[in-house]
Amino acid sequence: MAHRVFVTRELPGDGFANLLTDAAVDVDVWPLDAPPSREAFGERVRGVDGLICLITDRVDASVLDAAGPQLRVVSAMAVGVDNIDVAECTSRGIAVGNTPGVLTETTADIAWALILAAGRRIVEAAEYVKGGEWRTWSPTQLAGVDVHGATLGVVGFGAIGQAVARRAQGFGMRVLYWNRTPKSVEAAELGAEQRSFEDVLAESDFVSINVALTDETHGLIDASALSRMKSSATLVNTARGPIVDEAALVDALRDGQIAAAGLDVTAVEPLPMDSPLLTMPNVVVLPHIGSASLATRCKMADMAVANLRAGLAGGPLPNSVVG
Ligand code: DGY
Repeated sequence: MAHRVFVTRELPGDGFANLLTDAAVDVDVWPLDAPPSREAFGERVRGVDGLICLITDRVDASVLDAAGPQLRVVSAMAVGVDNIDVAECTSRGIAVGNTPGVLTETTADIAWALILAAGRRIVEAAEYVKGGEWRTWSPTQLAGVDVHGATLGVVGFGAIGQAVARRAQGFGMRVLYWNRTPKSVEAAELGAEQRSFEDVLAESDFVSINVALTDETHGLIDASALSRMKSSATLVNTARGPIVDEAALVDALRDGQIAAAGLDVTAVEPLPMDSPLLTMPNVVVLPHIGSASLATRCKMADMAVANLRAGLAGGPLPNSVVG
């Protein structure tokens, strides 16, 4: 009998196209661009053997209960799995897969886009032109801060943090990093200096957040952390929104405690239109597009399908997460 699978959105790439035509798998694909409601999710997972989900889909005990005891694998098309109760899956013998590696460089590119955009006021300047405000050239018009030669602080020196640091070499920057576990070999290769969390914040002109969202990192960048940063500094977050206390960030930006922010992720996604962040000229917000190059998204989808197939076959996943 064919394995039943629910996929919470249409995916790009050959792996998914092949899955759809595979007679051994009965695939139900959520047809809309918006994620399924909790109710619809619960209905669609009933009786499935495998699930492919996105970061927008919360997979908790209630979804696992709705699916039933035959569920073998939850495969995320993402590296971050904070939307999945991995411990609960593991305790039920359900394999969990993710897609590390393939999105590292693409996400580091976006961190850099935000460093440059926020530091050099790119979005503000482009809107200035489109808004018909460009009437002359003047000495301090839209003047930002230099990126080259500045100090970059990387909070979380995993694969993506290191890729962000590597790019800083081309800009002649000094790189500081903070990581829970030592990364001396990688740091030496990248010319990065290890510091305490507090010192990274205090000494950096650009602070890039690259930790995973966990109970320990939830709210890591709070009012006290922001108060340690330079008033000329820019905060860049391409990891997960809840790592930053957004109310504290708004206050810090408003009070001039820090100069600017570049955010690819926000506490609530999509960012509510009444968020004060949207009224601030010194804030650039992107809609969580860190991994959004077509090539990378295809690779992620292929990996998610490979994890799904391995889980359905009862074998180890090529990339698994254990809670
Ligand atoms: C991830 O993979 O965790 C990103 O946030 C989405 O690409």
